[in-house]
Amino acid sequence: MSGQESTSTFGRPLLRQNVWATRFGFYLAAISSALGLGNLWRFPFVTTENGGGAFVFLYFGVAIAIGLPILIGELMIGKLTRRGAVAAFRRLESDEDLSEGHRPGTFRAGPLAAFGCLLIVSYYAVVSGWVLHFLMQFAFGNFGPLGQASGHDVDLTLRLLQENGGMQFGLASVHIVIALVVVARGVQGGIERWASWMTPIFVLLMAVLVMKSLSSGQTVEALRFQFYPDFSRLNWNALQQAIGHVFFTLSIGLGTMVTFGSYLKSETHIPSAGFRVTVLDLVISAVAGLLVFPVSLGLSASGGPELLFRSLPRLLQDLQSGWFVGVSFFVCLYLGALAASIGLFESLVANIIEVFRLDRDRAVWLTGLVAVAFAAVPALSGSSLSHVSVAGRSVLEIWDSLAVNWLLPMSGLAFCLAVTRQLKASAATAEFQSDDSPITQSLYAHWRFAIVWIGPIVIGLGFLLTLIGWLLKSFGG
Ligand code: PHE
Repeated sequence: MSGQESTSTFGRPLLRQNVWATRFGFYLAAISSALGLGNLWRFPFVTTENGGGAFVFLYFGVAIAIGLPILIGELMIGKLTRRGAVAAFRRLESDEDLSEGHRPGTFRAGPLAAFGCLLIVSYYAVVSGWVLHFLMQFAFGNFGPLGQASGHDVDLTLRLLQENGGMQFGLASVHIVIALVVVARGVQGGIERWASWMTPIFVLLMAVLVMKSLSSGQTVEALRFQFYPDFSRLNWNALQQAIGHVFFTLSIGLGTMVTFGSYLKSETHIPSAGFRVTVLDLVISAVAGLLVFPVSLGLSASGGPELLFRSLPRLLQDLQSGWFVGVSFFVCLYLGALAASIGLFESLVANIIEVFRLDRDRAVWLTGLVAVAFAAVPALSGSSLSHVSVAGRSVLEIWDSLAVNWLLPMSGLAFCLAVTRQLKASAATAEFQSDDSPITQSLYAHWRFAIVWIGPIVIGLGFLLTLIGWLLKSFGG
């Protein structure tokens, strides 16, 4: 294992002996972090809440116009500074080779990103706990032909789970412990090995299920719902939600990709890496829609974070080999959730190691304790905290919305500003140069335009439209 960095900005070893073993290993880890639960769990319910095709259209546009450039920016900052987000931004202010120096108009993106990581990982752990629960239900034969389950049982299982805060907290804690055990083992032994066998199986199983879902009756309606853009169905806050979801699904705005980039070998061509991860993630979102919508459109209560858990078991129940496919599918879904959580935790742990100068083990313990404490709040959302709601939204939904729709875009804006105003243009240009591609110069110009103009303008517009929507609602009664 090659030590890429021997001393930190603070004058002591950085413990950054980590580096991806292969480029392919990095792709798989980045893709599995991006896949996570975002495509299968979050994309279908956010799309349903925002009226379908027009939202998908917006989401794809935002992903290409600002998600991809910011992803490239994050990977680049990580690769150039060899640090996690907090220390990376400090270095961007001070390292003469990389930095334009401290410029007014930038604010520190690192701490904001680290706080966002903590918020996201804690409610993500609760949803991952739901996946674990459904996995066990399948494994014990409570769904599918073995359990002779009716549609009612799916709803009942969900309701019992929602009302049992203790169980949700317990499952979330188990999830946090599993993720941290992998993180404690470092990059190659943990994250990379893990992703290299999980991702292909997951993609294969999804393909099998999509075929089944598409033959289940509501295909035409589902395709129309997902791909026909009826812009009259968009709300004022749809743009902000699309931006938030793009950040969430591509794992950007939290410094995770800065951390992943910091383990890249110096010969890796960052723009190509960013492009591949983005395109694959979008394709998988579209496929996830084809899997969930044909079933979910026929359900009466079809919105909210429970959507996936209501629809998928119904599809699996009808399958001949439903038990086997169900168990395998939830295993893969869980592994996806785990991969994403590992990325989030790795990012937090790297920050703690660098900022508080702790060793990896202590940093892992500290992160675990804080994350478990944070997870208690969303875990109790459907039980002790069920009386707390804003505009009909539960604590978990409010948490999701604050972290994803507000904090992530703000942090993304801070990333854009840092790249624009602090990163030396010569350092960034060098990352675009590749011997096998003559068009790299024009790519650089496009990337810079997107980071300097499109990103900040679109993110600002998203916030503005949401505020206008609020005002109209308040004054319109
Ligand atoms: N991208 C992950 C998903 O789609 C979630 C995530 C967000 C992971 C941010 C890491 C960082 O589920």
